[in-house]
Amino acid sequence: MYYSEDVIEEVRSRNDIVGVISQVVNLKKKGGRYFGLCPFHNEKTGSFSVSEDKQMYFCFGCHKGGNVISFVMDYEGFSFQEALEYLAERAGMTLPKEDFGEKQRREAGKRARILAMYKDAAIYYYRQLRGAAGERGRKYFEGRGLSEETMKKWGLGFAPSNSAGIYEYLRSSGHSDETIREAAYLSINERGVYDPFWNRVIFPIMNGQGKVIGFGGRIMGSGEPKYYNSKESPVFDKSRNLYGLQFARSSKRNYMLLCEGYMDVIALHQAGFDCAVASLGTAFTSGHASLIKRYVGEVILTFDSDGAGQKAILRAIPILKGAGLTVKVLDMKPYKDPDEFITHLGAEAYEERIQKAVNAVFFEIDSDLATRDLSDPDSKTRFFKETAEILSRIEDKVERDNYIIAASERYAIPKDTLFEMVNYIGSRREMGLTANTSGTLSGAGIKKKEKNAGINEAEKTVVAWMLSCGKSADEIEKIISPDYFSDETSKTVAALVLKSIKDGKTPSPAAFIDAFSEDPEKREQAAMYFCAELPEDETQARVLVAENIRLIKKKHINELLRTETDPDRLRELIREKSETDRKDIEI
Ligand code: UTP
Ligand code: MN
Repeated sequence: MYYSEDVIEEVRSRNDIVGVISQVVNLKKKGGRYFGLCPFHNEKTGSFSVSEDKQMYFCFGCHKGGNVISFVMDYEGFSFQEALEYLAERAGMTLPKEDFGEKQRREAGKRARILAMYKDAAIYYYRQLRGAAGERGRKYFEGRGLSEETMKKWGLGFAPSNSAGIYEYLRSSGHSDETIREAAYLSINERGVYDPFWNRVIFPIMNGQGKVIGFGGRIMGSGEPKYYNSKESPVFDKSRNLYGLQFARSSKRNYMLLCEGYMDVIALHQAGFDCAVASLGTAFTSGHASLIKRYVGEVILTFDSDGAGQKAILRAIPILKGAGLTVKVLDMKPYKDPDEFITHLGAEAYEERIQKAVNAVFFEIDSDLATRDLSDPDSKTRFFKETAEILSRIEDKVERDNYIIAASERYAIPKDTLFEMVNYIGSRREMGLTANTSGTLSGAGIKKKEKNAGINEAEKTVVAWMLSCGKSADEIEKIISPDYFSDETSKTVAALVLKSIKDGKTPSPAAFIDAFSEDPEKREQAAMYFCAELPEDETQARVLVAENIRLIKKKHINELLRTETDPDRLRELIREKSETDRKDIEI
């Protein structure tokens, strides 16, 4: 962590979580909390809760949770540092520079140097395209139907065969060999300088803010590799950048078109589809998906019509859905990609295909159907089961029911049969049993998380009690110590609560969450411990807490009994266990 705890605490306290989340989620007050539609998963009923007292959020549907800083991290796809800077600016604070460690200062300087270097490199290539050496490149782009305006807009360029030119230009513009190396760009050694992009047309890759962070270079004709791309660097994280985002983010359309290549994005924008982006040959990641989710709620996939493209679609669908996006798939047949489609059939025909794009659910079912022979009863059964499995993954009940009805018509599966199958799979899944892909059910998939659900609930209640009981840390520890909690995260949470009570501070759940900022999974689990509320009735609350403490203790002792071999210790544990069973727990 680069900033001191005090600074972090101040940023947090100057940004009320309800205010920050209200900017992007419509929150309504219900009892002591606010509720709204979860921005992290797709839902129709609000299970996303925000607590003003605790300055925390928690989703009862997808279990994402945390404090105001982690919200900004997840929502905007920021690092901890970036989230802190964003919130500081929002609150009109200037973060103290001296809190930067030496290493961080150097890192920040490094990024700025690389960006400045790439900007100049892009200018050089851009000028070359317009010079004598770039003639071939210009012809190439023209041959692919790009207008002068389009070339300018995307900063397209040309890297000449002679690598010396770019190097001299960069050096004379004040960029050091070290910066060029840090960017993993030109190779510089005793034998001279080598530009890996030489004799290629250049597509500058820009980040969402329109800053050049690397290049893609295409060979003008056939050869391998067709595209050469910049390596990752301190300014270029391939799983967090989308080509075309600097324009698509301000499109008026309420969806994004997701395609595979540079030329597809450019051709689509030139044809008026200014919401196109591409992940550029790298696998599509949840980082890409959450980047898109910052701007729109729907994605239309327009990947290549070949086998590889269709497989890539099936891989991207769950990632996009996981980010809470609605997903549709566009059919470009008989053409391979958006660029070719538009060249042959034009923008209007493409617009029609957008209108006809099928929902991802049907795309997945269609893909399975293509592998079946419905005249064979076994194959037909497997198709029905797989269809039910795909439909059962739709979380929202109303939406799921509507899809079941639509699918039964579309695929001629009896409606009642389909309802029965989907509900069966759904109920088995809730019991912790997962279906395998062929639709048969097995018990092998019981998840640890679900097995632990009971104990987690108990621990949540006890944490809520610790926070509000008004006892000293010693008194609490006599009743239950963090050692009794079930795993690392819950032990840490309980210990943090006790420590702050010991230090005489009012425990601040939002502050505890920062202890887990490096690990989103643990952080979400930690956030969960702070989402419980005790019954208002005091007697009821007392009974509930006592019972839960008993449960946690018994579970812990049972676990120890399972592994303990020392006879004396065993005897002691058995005594402790029966005492826990018999004695009232005084709280
Ligand atoms: P495609 O092979 O589908 O190329 O790769 P394309 O976009 O249709 O290219 P054109 O129309 O022939 O010019 C899709 C994307 O995958 C990445 C590039 O980002 C490309 O745009 N790719 C492909 C590479 O990075 N390297 C390659 O060698 C090939
Ligand atoms: Mn193409």
